[in-house]
Amino acid sequence: MQLKAHALTRRGFILTGAAAVATTAAVVWPRGTARPGAIGPGDVRLVAGRNTAPLLGPFRPDVDVWSFGGRVPGPEIRVRQGDRLRVVVENDLPEETTVHWHGVRVPNAMDGVPHLTQAPIKPGGSFAYDFTAHDAGTFWYHPHQRSFEQVGRGLYGPLIVEERQPIRVDRDVSWILDDWRLDGSGQISDDFGSPHDMTMSGGVGNTVTINGSVPQPFEVRAGERIRLRLINAANARIFGLDFGKHIARIIAMDGQPVAPHEAAGTVVLGPAMRIDLILDMMEEPGSRFEIVDSFYKGLEYPLTTIAYTEASPLRREPLQASIELRPNPLDDPDLGGAERHEVVFGGGMMGMMGGGGMMGGSGMMGRGGMGGGGMMRGMAWTVNGVTATGHVLEPALTLARGRTVVLDLKNDTAWWHPIHLHGHSFRVLSRNGRPTRHREWQDTILMPPNETAEIAFVADNPGDWMFHCHILEHQAAGMMATIRVANS
Ligand code: C2O
Ligand code: CU
Repeated sequence: MQLKAHALTRRGFILTGAAAVATTAAVVWPRGTARPGAIGPGDVRLVAGRNTAPLLGPFRPDVDVWSFGGRVPGPEIRVRQGDRLRVVVENDLPEETTVHWHGVRVPNAMDGVPHLTQAPIKPGGSFAYDFTAHDAGTFWYHPHQRSFEQVGRGLYGPLIVEERQPIRVDRDVSWILDDWRLDGSGQISDDFGSPHDMTMSGGVGNTVTINGSVPQPFEVRAGERIRLRLINAANARIFGLDFGKHIARIIAMDGQPVAPHEAAGTVVLGPAMRIDLILDMMEEPGSRFEIVDSFYKGLEYPLTTIAYTEASPLRREPLQASIELRPNPLDDPDLGGAERHEVVFGGGMMGMMGGGGMMGGSGMMGRGGMGGGGMMRGMAWTVNGVTATGHVLEPALTLARGRTVVLDLKNDTAWWHPIHLHGHSFRVLSRNGRPTRHREWQDTILMPPNETAEIAFVADNPGDWMFHCHILEHQAAGMMATIRVANS
């Protein structure tokens, strides 16, 4: 067995590690090089295994993790829009796994949902994922099997699909944000799936990393234009980034282009969400600025520092070039002919407080059955009143292929939930009854407590698709459903 622990460079394509200051290599996946059948030169091999990673930087001991390609994050896969991608995943973990291509509109059989779209990959086994990257944008990959632990231990990586005609920037940088719960010895705490995490805010960690390391200052040159691709790979933490003096212009959300606009307040990313920003670095050489994560009130902290080098400015005025991305080939929902459904998200600790004092301590709840879902009665999360106990479910909705659907989403809980739909992107039409300004395309919508939203999409991808909360503990504790797009 050949296990390649690191990015491979072979004829025709390159995998690059995502580094905070990496420039974009000219990375190309030529058309027609991916071949069906055996592992060939056009394939990417991705090994999931147990490794260590320098999460705490070079001066602290490495941390035991589970990761792809021997590192956190896993290798950056970069292709061009329209290219075909074939990734052979080998499982070197002590348990079954799968890989889901978050946000990519893949055929159902390539979606990486255990038992629903494929048999899980057994330890020692492998699976070939093969699909075409129809949409340009910022995506990521992660297991869908026991993801609250597998993603939580470090199994994830970026998938960047470059535009055929990219916008002009000086640097294209990806930041995968994550947090970890480290114990006193600096290792990952072993309490995955604790009742507290499952029923409340999810597994929020105590150590935040960018691209698998506690953040180092982010060096920039005065005058340069940076495209910053933010990916939130955390199990449960929501980020709200304040760029201070720097104007953060949002050009894409969840990989999909949006009319360029300044972030209103902080740049908010729930788990699994992506935002592409344009930053023009117009301050003085040698100056320094903090980027503050101020999402949780009272728990604000400086995420990292923007450190201008002493180099003379690249230019004195911001680059005059369009930052508007071309739209991806998505079918626009035809609202006139739409069918409507309501989807209500419920449950959680607050939902049952009146019901009998079960907050008295975790001792009452036990740990049995926490692994795959199925909390004690009354403790779980629900979608339309149903608590999922696995990935194979009676569909909550069955849609005819090609129909436009509007979903009225209601968060009937006291908690935030990033709700993700597989296989499709949807437009966010309104929030709390107020139309959104940009009708943004998303694949994950962050729902504040007790709020509503209207989303719309054309059900054009046949199959059974997961629709779930991406706080991975909520998902495991039942906040998950399937939507079937029927072929006839
Ligand atoms: Cu990123 Cu169903 O997940
Ligand atoms: Cu949730």
